[in-house]
Amino acid sequence: MHSEKERYTLTAALPYANGPVHIGHLAGCYIPADIYARYLRLRGRDVLFVCGSDEHGIPITIKARQEGVTPQQVVDKYHKIMGDAFRDFGISFDIYSRTSADVHKKTASDFFLNLYEKGELLEKSSEEFFDPEAGEFLADRYITGTCPNCGNPEAYGDQCEKCGKSLSPDELIDPRSKLSGATPVKKPTKHWYIDLGKHQDTWLKSWIAGKKDEWKPNVYGQCMSWLGEGENKLKPRAVTRDLSWGVPVPEQVPGHEGKVLYVWFDAPIGYISATKDFFERGNKPAWVKGENWKDYWTQEGGSSLIHFIGKDNIVFHCIIFPAMLEAHGGLLRPDNVPANEFLNLEGNKISTSRNWAVWLHEYLQEMPGREDELRYVLTSNMPETKDNDFIWKYDGSDSTTDSYQAKVNNELVNNLGNFVQRVLVLTQKYFEGKVPEASQDILGDEHAALYARIRDSRSQVEERLERYEFRAALLELMKLSGYGNQYMQSFEPWKLFASDPQKTALVLHNCIQLTAHLSVLLAPFLPKTAARLQKLLQLHNADWNTLDQDRILAVGTELGAPEHLFKRVEESEINRQLEKLEAARKASEADKPAPAAEESKAIAAAKEEIQFDDFARMDIRVGTILEAERVPKADKLLQLKVDTGVDVRTILSGIAMHYTPEQVVGRQVCVLINLAPRKMRGVESAGMILMAEDSEGKLHFVRPENIINNGADVR
Ligand code: MF3
Ligand code: ZN
Repeated sequence: MHSEKERYTLTAALPYANGPVHIGHLAGCYIPADIYARYLRLRGRDVLFVCGSDEHGIPITIKARQEGVTPQQVVDKYHKIMGDAFRDFGISFDIYSRTSADVHKKTASDFFLNLYEKGELLEKSSEEFFDPEAGEFLADRYITGTCPNCGNPEAYGDQCEKCGKSLSPDELIDPRSKLSGATPVKKPTKHWYIDLGKHQDTWLKSWIAGKKDEWKPNVYGQCMSWLGEGENKLKPRAVTRDLSWGVPVPEQVPGHEGKVLYVWFDAPIGYISATKDFFERGNKPAWVKGENWKDYWTQEGGSSLIHFIGKDNIVFHCIIFPAMLEAHGGLLRPDNVPANEFLNLEGNKISTSRNWAVWLHEYLQEMPGREDELRYVLTSNMPETKDNDFIWKYDGSDSTTDSYQAKVNNELVNNLGNFVQRVLVLTQKYFEGKVPEASQDILGDEHAALYARIRDSRSQVEERLERYEFRAALLELMKLSGYGNQYMQSFEPWKLFASDPQKTALVLHNCIQLTAHLSVLLAPFLPKTAARLQKLLQLHNADWNTLDQDRILAVGTELGAPEHLFKRVEESEINRQLEKLEAARKASEADKPAPAAEESKAIAAAKEEIQFDDFARMDIRVGTILEAERVPKADKLLQLKVDTGVDVRTILSGIAMHYTPEQVVGRQVCVLINLAPRKMRGVESAGMILMAEDSEGKLHFVRPENIINNGADVR
């Protein structure tokens, strides 16, 4: 798996600009990507590390609607918040671009046109949900209704967030458009599709099959379950949508009007646009040796393309984007896609809507100066092979040794920080803060073993990093620091000095060299700490080759004044975080529908017996509400115009406390049409809409299970 390529194109998933980033994002994608990028740069490789905001897609237009602003305002806001948080955590993107940038719109549009002109796209018509009031097609998220599984009246057309069931809009009871409240109807529309089945057969499946030993088992397994064993053929995937927010389908394409690229088509192209954006800006750091975007994306450029993502993005990066790149021609396929699993928080899934998260911008404010501590905890608990849990508090039990508090206090403060501190203090005390002489003639086996150990740790760290095993790499480094502590403890230089200053010099000399090695090995993981430490050691411009020397620091080098690299986390800081989570839990519980309450309406007593004829005298029909408006000065009444199949008539209905006019237009209902007309508020009402009243006193329409012809008889 060790790859000796010289050039690397590293991408980290473009986060949606519809909210800030949290620890799950960092642990799943951005920290591993950053460690890898920093490592390769230190090794002198040609590295370009790109990312940016994913600024299209339905979640963004929904957010804009909720906040009453434009989609552009939403993405501007979150692009800044996310970019700042990444920077503050030391995520060293060479470029943090965005998909609303012009360079992206052009790149994505040209990409589509290239595929279109090559005949790589299929054109198909399909029936999609449409809002007849708003005159717009509806994404599944834009359709709400009652969940057939749990009765949540606010379920979405793709999922019910109360019970978690995935849904399709057809399954919703009482579906309505979020735009106007109207009942969605199906309408034909034309879209372009990428023919995944064609790629599957010709190269995709065999290419991925060849990655069996190279890719992580979770990634390879997910791909294979998509590509299937026998006859399972991938269906064509639509790459366009009927929306207004997105990259427009190029004008050269007949029928482009009102269509945009599907967000999952344009977003990964964002990696390429970000690369172009980088070169257009023109301040190239030394490690970027290529001259333009082609060096990092074309086959001639010869770069190794690595996508860092979370597991929910696997199919897009391993199947669909590679198929797009292949269809385009001349572009790279990913060498590896080291996707992580998910990070949970205190035993529960991280959830934006329930505010069950540790938001980076809040952490930065509440725990300032502790960026590397979080990087450390998230790396050592990284969900590399399975989902993992982030917990705050250490209560002394085994199950909390991975908590933030334990990791910071027991590992960073007590192990690494303590070692460095002791080395600096003792050097100050006995040798005026200068690297002491190490007399060659007393270098016994014991001392040689220390350098052998350092060299071994280094190669372990390298090997782990090359295999994307970030936790294990970090663990190795911490073991080296633990070894340093033991080494020092075994000689007790604070006692030894009185009897044998020469040997003390040697011991400290060695400890200082070990510290110097640590400062370089640490750099990919804890960049701020490593920089501070290197400054204390007067170690300038260190790179990975620095580790080639056993003795990095020359005798006589003056070290900085001792300082603590890490601060203990106090109980109060941890409790504050737990209180925030508790508040979030309470708030989301208060949101849940109240369980059927005792004091709710009693079931009405049964009425007296009637004959069939009594029932048969009622003429009940299926009708559709065509128009609805409020009746002035009558809080409870809606004035409806209803198509009963027999005629169109006006009916007043006492449902205004339960439904808005927008919500009822377009609905099918049952109407008692031979009820004697009655005048209310000066309006004649001819009939009655049948409603069922639930135990809470809420009214629900009684209506046929399926949409049927108006005028149908109800018996
Ligand atoms: N925005 C997507 C998400 O957060 C990731 C997009 S990755 C890209 O899940 F490749 F499409 F850019
Ligand atoms: Zn549900």
